[in-house]
Amino acid sequence: MTPRDYPPPPSRYYDQVVETLPRLDGLTVAVTGSTSGTGEVYARTAGRLGARVIVLNRPSARADAATDRLRDGGVDVVPVACDLQSFESVRDAGEQVRAVAVGGLDVLCNNAGVMGLPDQATPDGCDVQMQTNHLSHFLLTSLVWPVLQRGAEARGRARVVSHSSGARRGPALKAEYLERRGGHLGGDGFPGFGKWRRYQQSKLANLLFSYALLERMPAEDQARGIQVLTAHPGPTNSGLQAKTGRAGGTRMLDRAILNRTLKVAHSVEDGALGIIRASFDPAAQTGEFYGPAGRGEPGPPVLMEPERDPASEKILWETSLATTGVTDFFGVRTGLT
Ligand SMILES: NC(=O)c1ccc[n+]([C@@H]2O[C@H](COP(=O)([O-])OP(=O)(O)OC[C@H]3O[C@@H](n4cnc5c(N)ncnc54)[C@H](OP(=O)(O)O)[C@@H]3O)[C@@H](O)[C@H]2O)c1
Repeated sequence: MTPRDYPPPPSRYYDQVVETLPRLDGLTVAVTGSTSGTGEVYARTAGRLGARVIVLNRPSARADAATDRLRDGGVDVVPVACDLQSFESVRDAGEQVRAVAVGGLDVLCNNAGVMGLPDQATPDGCDVQMQTNHLSHFLLTSLVWPVLQRGAEARGRARVVSHSSGARRGPALKAEYLERRGGHLGGDGFPGFGKWRRYQQSKLANLLFSYALLERMPAEDQARGIQVLTAHPGPTNSGLQAKTGRAGGTRMLDRAILNRTLKVAHSVEDGALGIIRASFDPAAQTGEFYGPAGRGEPGPPVLMEPERDPASEKILWETSLATTGVTDFFGVRTGLT
């Protein structure tokens, strides 16, 4: 059962934030999940500001249609197939991004996500939410590190931006959610909170990844100008909620959570402003976290308080390395000169 149908809210902040941003001519930006929602707005916005936009989507008619919409809008768009439920697909995508962005990547925006899915394993054996939302983005970031270095060297700055959520709030990160234990992480039985705990852990992982990456990044990469930022969109009427419903959101609890979000949600354009600001605002600084203030309210993207947790960051880093098989995060060999 899908949640109630709430009409799309009007955009309140999008135009005024975007008009403060500089032109992005000559920059190459990559974003995951641009078939709809915040990723589509992000790709369109970056393209209109002059960037070349690499869109990483799993192959589908939705992905083709979204790429066509961007092209029709005059965006210089390069589609790259990337199914975040498959490490093999992500490895292929990383190679392609390195080939496309041979002159340097200026922003990698790890945006794509799924929410509230049943307790299922991917073919790699991971939880479907954790692999899609975090583990594959961890792997992708490592794979494109050489072109982020190159972008920073060429133009003085490159950014990795991750998309977290208000849902990150909750228990501290547990390693088991990052391990190959898909299908055995809380189940789908009564009262049905398991899927929401798995989502909470994956969105917490998005924020902790930024802090862990920043902490471990070699000093020379910081000096090159590689920056790491995070955003959260606030409740956003994007269609994500309907997808959760279609995937089996039949319980009272699911409907209560989804309808509560949609009742207060802002527009997709306003929801995309956190990742847009974190990516393109020249005044934004490494380590910062942007999103609407408050607990689950909509609003413009503001600078949030840091939410450091070194013990959880260590769990995040070490378990993500083990699960993705990345042995040297910053040392991908590419043959690039
Ligand atoms: N909407 C909200 O209220 C809200 C609140 C907090 C955080 N967020 C976060 O915001 C981000 C964007 O969500 P949204 O609201 O814009 O939802 P959305 O409209 O459903 O967009 C999600 C995007 O992720 C892509 N995706 C899903 N699984 C994928 C996979 N295996 N491989 C590649 N791409 C995949 C989807 O592509 P397909 O068409 O192939 O499925 C789609 O393009 C997510 O990280 C979400 O957790 C959203």
